[in-house]
Amino acid sequence: MAGKRGALIVLEGVDKAGKTTQCHKLVQALQQSGRPAEMMRFPDRTTTIGQLIGAYLENRSELEDHTVHLLFSANRWELVPLMKRKLEQGTTLVVDRYAFSGVAFTSAKPAFSLDWCKQPDIGLPKPDLVMFLQLNPYEAALRGQFGKERYETGVFQGAVQEKFEQLMTDPSINWQVIDASQDIEDVHRGITEHSLKAMNAAQNLPLGELWK
Ligand code: TMP
Ligand code: MG
Repeated sequence: MAGKRGALIVLEGVDKAGKTTQCHKLVQALQQSGRPAEMMRFPDRTTTIGQLIGAYLENRSELEDHTVHLLFSANRWELVPLMKRKLEQGTTLVVDRYAFSGVAFTSAKPAFSLDWCKQPDIGLPKPDLVMFLQLNPYEAALRGQFGKERYETGVFQGAVQEKFEQLMTDPSINWQVIDASQDIEDVHRGITEHSLKAMNAAQNLPLGELWK
């Protein structure tokens, strides 16, 4: 019998929701239960394209808004061959942000439509599960100040949240909303349950194409 494929699992959410912490915990839990799993994150700042994005986010460079949108997308596409290889080998990928962040962040800028923003990411590997870590702005503020990177302001994050809410009305995506105000371990338990279910289902399904 051919090997079963891994699942593509994405965590999304506004800043301070705990995505990175939860990605690490999920990968660790899956590995400890004998399921091959690896973490990825977007942007991946280690590639040549990723370094351009990193400089932009750290305000060390300026890039035109359409241009940086396309670079974020290119940064995903350049990792698609690796992602497909891993998934086919049976490794589940736990991804910290994906095309949904791409669309939500750019379309929160004036004069960018959701539809235009989606175009370059159409056809990417489709996640089997996207968990949105929901945290209201008050709770987020209690977790401390935003950092110094571009986009890390309360006003902009509010606009991003609205765009995520629009994206979550898309029934073609397996969205699950997670209450990120809970205790870290409770959030982890919920995320693990959804993940195991999606991993079971994915085993018998071909990998889909996003927004196609
Ligand atoms: P990070 O803090 O998770 O490394 O994300 C970097 C920032 O980049 C964060 O503010 C979200 C933003 N972003 C985009 O604008 N477009 C994208 O496609 C992605 C993945 C992130
Ligand atoms: Mg950040």
